[in-house]
Amino acid sequence: MKIGVFCSGGDAPGMNACVRAIVRSAIAHGQEVVGIHRGYQGLLDEDFYRDADGRAVMGPRSVSDIIQTGGTILHSSRSDEFRTDEGQRKAAEILERHEIEALIPIGGDGTLKGAVALSKYYGGLVVGCPGTIDNDLAGTDYTIGFDTAVETAVNCVDKLRDTAESHERLFLVEVMGRHSGYIALYTAVAAGAEIACIPETPTEVGEIVTHLRVLKNRGKKSVLIIVAEGDESGGAEALHTKLDDYRDPDKPDQPGCPYGTRAITLGHLQRGGAPTPADRILATELGDFAVRSIIEGRTHMMAGKINGDLTLTPLEKVFASHKPVPDSLVRLIGQMAH
Ligand code: F6P
Repeated sequence: MKIGVFCSGGDAPGMNACVRAIVRSAIAHGQEVVGIHRGYQGLLDEDFYRDADGRAVMGPRSVSDIIQTGGTILHSSRSDEFRTDEGQRKAAEILERHEIEALIPIGGDGTLKGAVALSKYYGGLVVGCPGTIDNDLAGTDYTIGFDTAVETAVNCVDKLRDTAESHERLFLVEVMGRHSGYIALYTAVAAGAEIACIPETPTEVGEIVTHLRVLKNRGKKSVLIIVAEGDESGGAEALHTKLDDYRDPDKPDQPGCPYGTRAITLGHLQRGGAPTPADRILATELGDFAVRSIIEGRTHMMAGKINGDLTLTPLEKVFASHKPVPDSLVRLIGQMAH
């Protein structure tokens, strides 16, 4: 059987480890892998990985030396053409013409929604792998790339703490997560940040200022607030302005926020870099599991790992509802900020 593999949407550290696992596991089971460049757009363009002889097949050496690298050797994209019905029909026709009988898309919610759309026209087997730094998919405790993104963010926040402490300042640090507070929450707990502003909990500027005054009175020299990109405040810059502009009704001439503040956005820094061992292992397990699941005839599923067990979850379920962040961590941030 020919199994197609591609990465789509935002790249995530560990995608290469996943591609490597898919290729090597498929070969070990006597199957062939076709690498598709640039996600759905590359599929529409019939942009396949080709070996030295021009054959569209990934041999074991095509994935040598990549388990430790960030990004994706297959490249990635977000395709407008594939979002159309016509694009989806065309993609299915291309897969069938090239006799690709199964597909393993690696990506986040957009990628897996795309796989559902494609299945309207494509008769092959589809088992996706969760590759996104956001950790916003149900059906797996962690997505491939999340652990590395958190590690990168924590390293940055640790550095900012030095300057915050030296200058007795407050830093607002924006991390990625369009709709999810996962990266922000984990970063905040691991970096000992005093506050996390995430889409899952209300962000109220007056309450933050009151909290900051309590911290100042307790002798806190520096404060770190981790802000998720998708927080209702509008992000770190917007919250910076709101804190700067905040005034008590009875003291309109005095700044309300007791700390001098700076805002910084970590942005795409969080998407690159060498994957952590945890991401490499997860990617390897899920890539191999996706191949084995396809060989068993499973389809329309995402491979994931829940409580240590490899699991298959129907594709629609993984993005049907918001994946809740752990309340226990939200509570700990408040308790540790003493
Ligand atoms: O989904 C991964 C992600 O990094 C999100 O956290 C972020 O909102 C988005 O992608 C950014 O996308 P782009 O790279 O297209 O700007």
